[in-house]
Amino acid sequence: MYSEKVNDHFMNPRNVGEILGADGIGIEGNLACGDVMQISIQVENDKIVDAKFKTFGCGAAIAVSSMITEMVKGKTPADALKISKEDVVQELGGLPPQKMHCSNLGANALRKAVEDYRKKGKVYIA
Ligand code: FES
Repeated sequence: MYSEKVNDHFMNPRNVGEILGADGIGIEGNLACGDVMQISIQVENDKIVDAKFKTFGCGAAIAVSSMITEMVKGKTPADALKISKEDVVQELGGLPPQKMHCSNLGANALRKAVEDYRKKGKVYIA
């Protein structure tokens, strides 16, 4: 049913928690199932250096959260916005058709975190 990677990220999720004083925070919920995901990011010199998540949701949502927080590290905020739900599903080795909607949470929560970061207008002077 789930790929080996999905099981791994579900059983051993990476980047669980919340960054204190995060540069950007995004929260996304799915009204249909009631699941909620929060992603927080830390940005330095236009690079996302850390990302963490808190998710109340199914196994697929946990795996998506874990994978997307891994994928986003080292990317610029602009490149982070290009990560699609399809990219995350592909990295996870696929999701069962009835679980594809769970991947929406990850991409949307990340987009909101980047938008929040941009709204705050953090500026670095080297
Ligand atoms: Fe709601 Fe998976 S069932 S996110």
